[in-house]
Amino acid sequence: MSFYRNAVWFVKGLQEYTKSGYEAAAKQFNTGDLDVNLSGRSFVITGANSGIGKATAHEIAKRGGIVHLVCRNKERAQEAKEELVEQSKNQNVHVHIVDMSSARQVWEFAESFSKSNSIHVLINNAGCMVNQKELTEEGVEKNFATNTLGTFILTTALIPALKQAQDPRVITVSSGGMLVQKMNVDDLQSEKGTFDGTMAYAQNKRQQVILTERWASQHKEIHFSSMHPGWADTPAVQLSMPDFHAKMKNKLRTESMGADTVVWLAVSAVASNQPSGLFFQDRMAVPTHLPLALSRSSPADEEKLQAILEQLAHKFKP
Ligand SMILES: NC(=O)c1ccc[n+]([C@@H]2O[C@H](COP(=O)([O-])OP(=O)(O)OC[C@H]3O[C@@H](n4cnc5c(N)ncnc54)[C@H](OP(=O)(O)O)[C@@H]3O)[C@@H](O)[C@H]2O)c1
Repeated sequence: MSFYRNAVWFVKGLQEYTKSGYEAAAKQFNTGDLDVNLSGRSFVITGANSGIGKATAHEIAKRGGIVHLVCRNKERAQEAKEELVEQSKNQNVHVHIVDMSSARQVWEFAESFSKSNSIHVLINNAGCMVNQKELTEEGVEKNFATNTLGTFILTTALIPALKQAQDPRVITVSSGGMLVQKMNVDDLQSEKGTFDGTMAYAQNKRQQVILTERWASQHKEIHFSSMHPGWADTPAVQLSMPDFHAKMKNKLRTESMGADTVVWLAVSAVASNQPSGLFFQDRMAVPTHLPLALSRSSPADEEKLQAILEQLAHKFKP
């Protein structure tokens, strides 16, 4: 089954996830969707110093939004902020230093942030594919800690503040790579068998899609979506998938093509009129499973995922 899923997915990727896939899809875009004045709206973007996150921050800053960059590295974050302010002429760009793989830091940030700021849109963009098995200081597998647990804690801790806002939204940057995985709720931290960073990452991205669906059904006041940016040429792809990058580099999307659907979900009125909880690619809701892939998990497993995350989140709450 995994050979079938990988083969179907790769062919689909060559058609849809590349730069030419973007250009074909973009013919259907309504450019007016992004003609929005964002002044007074506050956006929290994780992993915003680079790649898709920075390109998203740029589009939001240009439209006058209040931009909060949540990054782990002070120098890289400061450099991104200066570039964003200079290019957008928007002074409302703020840096917060948070390592998303540290549950304690995510909790502390979310609690202090919501005491002194409003938030209209959360963009869960920070992500990693760590290929050698690594545990965080808290003893959590690094991919899971960053992509799933960090996203879970940040989102759930900010939900009360989001509910105070008008037209609140949460966008989670997942990956089409999740289509090759059925969630394995009994091995969330890749403890069984030989460790494979690509598969751990794809599991995390599947978990993000499931969480988005669950949050949407539990918090009707907030518009949730997950999305796939396509294959974009970013530092993450260059560093974590060097062979893929070398083979595909002429076909990859630019960072701003990768960011287009994130921006559209975050700012356009058309996006928030779509049902909550869906998975998007190139401004369209798309299926979360490949045909005949048997990748659906049971409602009990999805409930269990949320229960385990709640337990872990509670364990690390300062
Ligand atoms: N590019 C693609 O083709 C593609 C495809 C599917 C999905 N995605 C997803 O798109 C998102 C953005 O990735 P990208 O491709 O734009 O790569 P990128 O340019 O490397 O950006 C990743 C961002 O996440 C940050 N990050 C990673 N671990 C972090 C942590 N523990 N705490 C805080 N920030 C952390 C990175 O910070 P540093 O600069 O400090 O490392 C960086 O700012 C990811 O969720 C990725 O999975 C990308």
